[in-house]
Amino acid sequence: MTIHSKIPGIGLGTYMMSPEEAEEMTYEAIKIGYRHIDTAEVYRNEQGVAKGIERSLSEGLVTRSDLFITTKVFPGNEMWGQSQKTFDDVMESLDNSLKRLKLEYVDLYLIHSAHADKTRIEQWKALLELKSNDKIVYAGVANWNIKHLQEINDADLPLPDTNQIELHPWAQQPELVKYLQDNNVHIIAYSSLVPLSTWRKKDGENSLKTQDMENEGSSEESLFKILANKYNVKESQILLQWALQLKYAILPKTIKISRLHENFHFSFVIEEEDMLLIENENKGGGITWEWGDPLLVE
Ligand SMILES: NC(=O)c1ccc[n+]([C@@H]2O[C@H](COP(=O)([O-])OP(=O)(O)OC[C@H]3O[C@@H](n4cnc5c(N)ncnc54)[C@H](OP(=O)(O)O)[C@@H]3O)[C@@H](O)[C@H]2O)c1
Repeated sequence: MTIHSKIPGIGLGTYMMSPEEAEEMTYEAIKIGYRHIDTAEVYRNEQGVAKGIERSLSEGLVTRSDLFITTKVFPGNEMWGQSQKTFDDVMESLDNSLKRLKLEYVDLYLIHSAHADKTRIEQWKALLELKSNDKIVYAGVANWNIKHLQEINDADLPLPDTNQIELHPWAQQPELVKYLQDNNVHIIAYSSLVPLSTWRKKDGENSLKTQDMENEGSSEESLFKILANKYNVKESQILLQWALQLKYAILPKTIKISRLHENFHFSFVIEEEDMLLIENENKGGGITWEWGDPLLVE
């Protein structure tokens, strides 16, 4: 079955959740109806996600096959003093993630970024091997640009099932989106809620969001506030529905149960003329990585 028909439209993001928050939110989200949980080795909360899954399974809320669990291998970034992971390192990372998650397989395994310029293809070959061994169902990447994906093509290897990228009205990446769609690579949009004034407000939740962007997000004139009034929904729901209408899978993250509901339960359609207004909001590159946009990596 292709990933397009298998991946749920709305999943739970867990970046910046502690293990305890990840346990609670995974459990509560599954209770509400979420089936996709997105974590990563560098989030350091896979054990928490595991506990949330275990509780849901033991209470009979779901079975393992109802769930779609994503985790990621960090490729290694020499600029940060890390060595670039080899084929064997990637195999070991997956085994360690499976141990922490207490799972036999993950539904989706991603190479978290394209920072390993010397071993990118070797890492991709490791994911293909894991897929053929049934340790992962789908193999993908995150934050890879067209040039990185071309390298896979040039090596005569199959393209990823998915590319998880920063995608919201302020960072629409039209060229990359077209490339992915033309090549049948499913798109998972992350950080859908960037334009909200409530996005990443806690100390230490750094990003490249500028003061101008903060001001724009809290302005009463903000297009998303205007549309929220028009459709009688939350501003967050305008951002999420925009992505769903473009057929992107989404991963809204929250540590509040009321927002878990809000981010999952909505049903309306944004009219074409309003989709066009949102299209005009594009500002260009990504802003969620405080160290710089990973799509710009060489
Ligand atoms: N592959 C990558 O490199 C990458 C990078 C970034 C993210 N991701 C994935 O994508 C997920 C989502 O991205 P994200 O965590 O950057 O941000 P997000 O989901 O776009 O937004 C989360 C922020 O918005 C707030 N929020 C959530 N729901 C809200 C609502 N209904 N109303 C108002 N505010 C709301 C949250 O605060 P509270 O928690 O306090 O509610 C939090 O500050 C991540 O968790 C991660 O799984 C992947």
